[in-house]
Amino acid sequence: MTRQLIPSRRAFPADDPIFALNAEAQARRSRGESILNATVGALLDDSGQLVVLESVMDLWHDLGALEVAPYAPIAGDPAFLKALVKRHWPGLGSAGAACATPGGSGAISLSMRNFLEAGQKVLTTAPFWGPYATMAAENGLDLVTAPWPAALAPLDAAAWEEALQSLLKQQGRVLLLLNDPCHNPSGRSLSASDRQVLMELLRRASAQGPITLLLDFAYLDYTKEPAAVLEAMADYAALGAEGRVLVGASMSLSKSMTLYGGRCGAIAFPWSGDPALQAALTQSCRGTWSNCAKAPQALLLRLEKDGKAQARLAAEQRHWSDVLAARALALDEALAAEGMAALHWTGGFFVCVAVADPEAVCERMKGEGVFTVPLPEGLRVGLCGMRAAEAPRFAQTLRRVLTP
Ligand SMILES: Cc1ncc(COP(=O)(O)O)c(C=O)c1O
Repeated sequence: MTRQLIPSRRAFPADDPIFALNAEAQARRSRGESILNATVGALLDDSGQLVVLESVMDLWHDLGALEVAPYAPIAGDPAFLKALVKRHWPGLGSAGAACATPGGSGAISLSMRNFLEAGQKVLTTAPFWGPYATMAAENGLDLVTAPWPAALAPLDAAAWEEALQSLLKQQGRVLLLLNDPCHNPSGRSLSASDRQVLMELLRRASAQGPITLLLDFAYLDYTKEPAAVLEAMADYAALGAEGRVLVGASMSLSKSMTLYGGRCGAIAFPWSGDPALQAALTQSCRGTWSNCAKAPQALLLRLEKDGKAQARLAAEQRHWSDVLAARALALDEALAAEGMAALHWTGGFFVCVAVADPEAVCERMKGEGVFTVPLPEGLRVGLCGMRAAEAPRFAQTLRRVLTP
C-alpha cells in the first residue's frame, strides 16, 4: 500500500467492473471457449469488429495540421458548440451557456460541480449508467434515484414527486440527470405522456427551488423511433424556453460518430444567456482539463459544411439503428420462446433484463459462457456487441439459470 495515498482513496477496485468482465470474457474466448459477450459498450458488427463510421473517418483523414495541433479555446470553439447544439435542436440559433467537454462524461461531471454543493445529492433514474455514481463520488456528492418506468408501464409519478420533494427539503435544489431519449440500460425512451408528467413535476418543483435538468443524449442517434425522438426534443426545448427549469444537454461524439477515443462532447444550456453560468462552466474547464481536443471539434465544423457527408452519416446511423433493432427483436423473440417477457427496445446500445439477485444470475450465466453486466435491477445486455443469432443461446441460458 502506498503510504502517500490518503486513506479515503485506498479501497477502490483495481479495475472498472465492466472492463474486468469484458477482459474475462475475452480471455476465456482466446482459450478456445465459445463465449457470448454482452458486456461490451461499443458498437460491434456481426464479426465482432468495432464499427467505425466511414463518413466520420473520411472527414478525420482530411483534417489539416491547424485543425489538429493548436489549443482549442478553453470553453471550446463557439462555432463547434453552436453546430453541435444545432444537430440536436436545428431550430436554435445559439448554444447559450456552453462549453466543450471530454465526451458526455465531462459534461455530466461538470454539471455535478456547478449545480450542487459538496455533500448534496444528484437525482437520476434507476437503473442508470454506473459511472454516474462514480462521478458523483468524485465530486463529493451522493446519488439518489427515482424509478425508470418498466416496459409498458407508466412513470411512477408519486415516487418522482417524493424524490423531488425530499431533495428540495434537504438541499433546496435539484440536479436531475435524465438519459432520455434512448436510455442506458433499459433501451427505452420515456413515452410522450410520461415525459409530460415528469416535466410538469419539474415545473411545479421549480417554484420551490432551482431545478436543473441535464439531458444525457449519449445514444440519441441510435433509435427505432426517429419521429418520437424528434417529439421528445421539441418537448424538452419547450420546457427549456419557458425558463423555469434550467434545461441543458450533455452531448457526445463517442457513440453518435463512433469517436469514443476522440473524447469530445459538450454541455450546453441553449436557453440561458447568463454570463455567470458561462463563466462558471469555463472556470470548471480551466480547472480540470484546461482545453478539450481540437481535432473532433474541427471535424464537426467540416461536417456542418458538407451536406454529402451529413447524408452519408445519417445513412450509416440509420443502418446501425436497424441492426440494433434486429438484434433487439431477435432477443425478444428468443425470450418469448423461453416463456419470458419481451424487453421492447426502442433505442440505444443496451437492454436490461429484470431478475432477482442479478449478481448470482450473472455468475451462473458466466459459468455457461454468457457474459452480462449485473446491475441492482437486473442484467445489462449489450445489444451493441452481440449478434442476433446469439439471442436464442442467451435466452436459453437465462431460462436454465433462472429455473434450474
Ligand atoms: C448513459 C451514458 N451517458 C454518457 C456516457 C459517456 O460517454 P462519453 O464520455 O464517451 O461521451 C455513456 C458512455 O457509455 C453512457 O452510457
